[in-house]
Amino acid sequence: MSKIESVVPGYTHLSIEPYIPNIGATIYDIDLSKLDSEPVRDELRKALTEFQVLFFRNQTLSPEQQLEVAKVFGDPDKAKAFFPRLEGHKLVEVIETKPSGHRYGTDQWHTDITFSKNPPTGTVLYAHIVPPSGGDTLWVSATAVYDSLPPHLQACLETLEATHSFEHSGWPNYFSQLENGEDIYRKARAENLPVVHPVVRTHPITGKKLVYVNPNFTDRIKGLSRQQSDALLSFIFAQFQRPEFQARLRWEKNTVAIWDNRATAHYATNDYGNEHRLLHRITFGEDNAFDK
Ligand code: SIN
Repeated sequence: MSKIESVVPGYTHLSIEPYIPNIGATIYDIDLSKLDSEPVRDELRKALTEFQVLFFRNQTLSPEQQLEVAKVFGDPDKAKAFFPRLEGHKLVEVIETKPSGHRYGTDQWHTDITFSKNPPTGTVLYAHIVPPSGGDTLWVSATAVYDSLPPHLQACLETLEATHSFEHSGWPNYFSQLENGEDIYRKARAENLPVVHPVVRTHPITGKKLVYVNPNFTDRIKGLSRQQSDALLSFIFAQFQRPEFQARLRWEKNTVAIWDNRATAHYATNDYGNEHRLLHRITFGEDNAFDK
């Protein structure tokens, strides 16, 4: 991709091209393996908050360097999802789909790890192997979804809480593809009891309200019948489908995406058949993501 000349007002160190008005930006002319300038790091944090997901092409990062990138935004997490870990790097999750291999169930809208009490603030995802076509990832702006709802519904949702659980997601199906899947499932259940989050939250930096439910992990809204909860959640999730609220990334080898996991949900398309796809993921900032 070629360099762009224009920069977004308010940034003097980054060359930024907004993706669509509601979400996303591509950052040009930056080497993520050399982020020693504090003003650059400050602007990256500011850009992540403003644009919700950032894309960087042509990056070369070792696992240690990817960890350093995550540290710009927060402490790397203990990685509470169930992806395999990179050997020798417990904090680096390996998202790999091989010909006729297993699938993770990430082809559902989700916000990372909302089945835990303290989901991460954000995620750094780095592409090592990408299919010739397909395997795109989409992000939706949870603030844009909230803003699109009628005021009476916004006010009602603000009074509600919802239960989140990994059991509701694609993980149990992933476990069933593994040799010792039954044991892993049992352990996961014991260690991850359902948790409750507000249906609407306020972003701690922007002050913007956002919907904090997602089809993969949100089981039901408390205080409503199953039918009422399903109907209300379906209505909210239908807004996730609106292209106006989405940024869709076509991966290339060495592309990095960094997202604000508070303000977005994402969806990994599963349309690449038997092609190989390999990404390394690091989540960060799990402690009280909504308190700072
Ligand atoms: C994820 O859900 O974090 C993985 C996204 C992807 O594989 O593109």
